Amino acid sequence: MNIQLSICAIFVFLFSASKQTYFLNKNYIDTINKNAKTWKAGVNFHPETPLKFILGLLGSKGVKVSSTGPFKSHDTLYKSNVSIPIEFDARKRWKNCTTIGTIRDQGNCGSCWAFSTTGAFADRLCIASNSKYNELLSAEQVTSCCYRCGLGCQGGYPIRAWQHFYKHGLVTGGNFNSFQGCQPYTFPPCSVNNSCSGETEKNHKCQKRCYGNKTISYRNDHKYIKEPPYYLDYNYIQQDIMNYGPIEASFEVYDDFLSYKSEYRCS
Ligand SMILES: *[C@@H]1O[C@H](CO)[C@@H](O)[C@H](O)[C@H]1NC(C)=O
Ligand SMILES: *[C@@H]1O[C@H](CO)[C@@H](O)[C@H](O)[C@H]1NC(C)=O
Ligand SMILES: *[C@@H]1O[C@H](CO)[C@@H](O)[C@H](O)[C@H]1NC(C)=O
Ligand SMILES: *[C@@H]1O[C@H](CO)[C@@H](O)[C@H](O)[C@H]1NC(C)=O
Repeated sequence: MNIQLSICAIFVFLFSASKQTYFLNKNYIDTINKNAKTWKAGVNFHPETPLKFILGLLGSKGVKVSSTGPFKSHDTLYKSNVSIPIEFDARKRWKNCTTIGTIRDQGNCGSCWAFSTTGAFADRLCIASNSKYNELLSAEQVTSCCYRCGLGCQGGYPIRAWQHFYKHGLVTGGNFNSFQGCQPYTFPPCSVNNSCSGETEKNHKCQKRCYGNKTISYRNDHKYIKEPPYYLDYNYIQQDIMNYGPIEASFEVYDDFLSYKSEYRCS
């Protein structure tokens, strides 16, 4: 299998030092809707949700790490004269790879770094195998077992998750309570109220066995990436996606991001 993985990582979260989540108030959301031209804001969180909780959900660390590379700029499939289409939808390009576009729920846990990397890994594995392999990979395993990756539910470094897949591999794992794959996610989805059933970080314990689908062999289920991970310069992101599939990216978010509801559709 020819699997190449890429990373574009830029991450820093800017937030007011204020402890009040003023940005979840209705007034603030109304103000956003008066000014925003391309998207719609709405209520996603209870207005009294503590700032600490919100910050805990933003788990991608390591903005400085990306500056050291390695950056990938050469590939037999990159072309200098390629014409980049106006629109490219990986879900349509690789229809049989149903993990692409699957939206998963990280629950009350700052594990976006684990979901985004395992998600892109699963997508690329499917693409590289001509859709013979099409499984969700375990966000749980990397969140709870990769100690070098960061602090589990308190955030992690996406590049280190990729390094972990390269060295130690990753098992399959579906969503909470799904019994799908070797290690499904153990945190329940959060409701509108953030009532995450009082689950805590303690629920994440590294387990070296398959507790989901118990007939799977833990050892044999590990999938590895073929080459060490790399970063992509802006100029090569599009070509890499068009040839190999989704990438993992992190981005800065501002206080209005938490109220994102939908884009406007022109009809
Ligand atoms: C791009 O260049 C290659 C040779 O370098 C050529 O074979 C190909 O037809 C060119 N494609 C376009 C769209 O011009
Ligand atoms: C995608 O799935 C369809 C229906 O199952 C199948 O006919 C087709 O050959 C598949 N395409 C690839 C590239 O595997
Ligand atoms: C949110 O909380 C309120 C009051 O605590 C409750 O009535 C409502 O059913 C909850 N909604 C959800 C989706 O859990
Ligand atoms: C469990 O895994 C086996 C392969 O080890 C597979 O054949 C079976 O369909 C899986 N069961 C479920 C419920 O996913």
